[in-house]
Amino acid sequence: MTESPLAPSWLSYPSDTSYLNPVMYSNGTTRQVSGEVTIGTVPVSELAATYGTPLLVVDEDDFRARARGFVEGFNRAFDSLCGGVDVYYASKSLLTVQVARWVAEEGLNMDVASGGELAIALRAGFDPAKIGLHGNNKSDQELTRALQTGVGRIVVDSLSEIYRLAALAESAGVSAPVMLRLTTGVHASTHSYIATAHEDQKFGLSMIPAPGEERSAAEQAVLAVAEHPHLRYLGLHSHIGSQIFEADGFTAAADRMLNFIAALQTQHGITTAELDLGGGYGIAYTEADRPRAPEDIADSLAEGIRATLQSLTIDCPRISIEPGRAISGPAGSTLYRVGTTKTVWVDDPTGADQPVPRRYVAVDGGMSDNPRPVLYDADYSATLASRVSQADPVLTRIVGKHCESGDIVVRDTYQPEDLDDQDLVLVPATGAYCHVMSSNYNALLRPAVVAISGGSARLIIRRETDQDLFAREV
Ligand code: LLP
Repeated sequence: MTESPLAPSWLSYPSDTSYLNPVMYSNGTTRQVSGEVTIGTVPVSELAATYGTPLLVVDEDDFRARARGFVEGFNRAFDSLCGGVDVYYASKSLLTVQVARWVAEEGLNMDVASGGELAIALRAGFDPAKIGLHGNNKSDQELTRALQTGVGRIVVDSLSEIYRLAALAESAGVSAPVMLRLTTGVHASTHSYIATAHEDQKFGLSMIPAPGEERSAAEQAVLAVAEHPHLRYLGLHSHIGSQIFEADGFTAAADRMLNFIAALQTQHGITTAELDLGGGYGIAYTEADRPRAPEDIADSLAEGIRATLQSLTIDCPRISIEPGRAISGPAGSTLYRVGTTKTVWVDDPTGADQPVPRRYVAVDGGMSDNPRPVLYDADYSATLASRVSQADPVLTRIVGKHCESGDIVVRDTYQPEDLDDQDLVLVPATGAYCHVMSSNYNALLRPAVVAISGGSARLIIRRETDQDLFAREV
C-alpha cells in the first residue's frame, strides 16, 4: 500500500501508525511496550471498561501545566515592561466545577461569557473579583448577578449596554467595573466564524466613526463610561479570533489599542489602566499545525508592545490575556469504540482509470460530542489506542453514528487496514470546544468526562442516562 491520491496534501503517509506525535497528545499520553496507550499511566482499555465510551479524558496535570505555562511565560516577558500580566482562562473552551477549581488553584482569573458559565464558576467557589463577564447581548439578570456577586470586570460590548448597566448599577447601589470591547479591524487568519475583530460581525464597539459622525462608537463609549457616576472605567478589551498561529495579528491589535489609549489620554485626559488582548492561541489538531509555546507568543507580543510604547507618551497599562483552547484543548482526548467499517471505491482525483479506496470506520459518538468538523471543517487526527497493528496504513475516514453524512470525526487519517470492530480509537486535542458544545442530537447521551491526575482517573461529569433525556419533559 502507498499514499492515497484522496489524501489532503498536509497528511503524510506514516512509517509507523502507532507513533503518538507529542505536539497533539497531552503530556501524559504514551504508548506502552504492550502496544496499548495510557493516559497518565491509566490504560485506555481500563478507562473504557470503567467509564464506557465515548469518553472525554482530561489530563489534569497537562491542563494545569499549560495554565501555569501562560502565567509564567507572560509574566516573565511583561514583568519589566508592564508590571506583569493577568491570565484569564476562557472558560467557554471547557468548564466544569472541578475544572474551575484547577484554574483557581493555578492562580488564574476566569473569563465567563454567560450567566451559566458565571454560575458554574461561582459554584466552584471561584473568587468573583477574579472573574470577567463577557457577552454581546447580556441580559439584565446576567448583569445584575455580576453586580451583586462582585464580579471584577464586566466587558461591555455595545453603547446601549452602557446605559442598561449604569441603571442596574444605580439601583443596586454599586459602581460597575467596566472594560469596553473594541473591534480593532485586525483580520485574523482563521475560519471566518471564529474571527472576531473585523468590522462586519456582531462583537464590540467600532473604532471607526460612522458616516457623518465625529466620534467612533469606541470613543463615545469611553467618554460615557468615564463620566458616569455608577460606572468605573477600567480599560479596554480586544479579541481578534481563535485558533491563530501567527503573532502579527495580536501585535497589530495591541498597537491599535495602545494608540487609541494614547489618543484618549491626550484628547480627553482619560487614563486607561487595563488592556485585555483576548485569547485565540492556536493548537495542533493534526501534524500540519505548528503551535507556538506561550513564552514565544509572550516574547513577540512584548516586543511589539515595547516598540509601540516607544513612540507614545503613555505608561503601559496592566495587560491581560484570555487563553482557552491552548490550555484545555491539548489536555483532552476522546476515546471511542469502533463499530462498523466499510471500504468504498471512488474516482481517482488525478484522473487515473482505476478507482481508489477510502475506508470508513464508524465509532460510537460523532457530531454530538464533537461538532467542530461539521461547523468549521475542523480536521482532527486519531490513533488506534488499544493495540498496535503491523497492517498497512490505509486512508481512513472516522465517522460517527448520527443520521447525517456530514457526521465526521476525523476526515482524513491513515490507519492500519485491520482497524475494526471493538478496537479503541483515541482522538487528541478534543479538550476545548467539544464537551461544552456537545448536544443530544439523535437523543444520544452525552459522554462522561474523566480527569486523570497523579496516575489515577476520576469521574468529573457522569455520562447521561435516558432519565436525562426525559428530565425536562413537562
Ligand atoms: N476571549 C474572548 C472574548 C473570546 O471570545 C474567546 C473565544 C476567547 C477569549 C478564547 O479563545 P481561545 O483562546 O479559546 O481560542 N467554538 C469555536 C471557538 C469559539 C471561540 C469563541 N471565543 C471553536 O470550536 O473553534
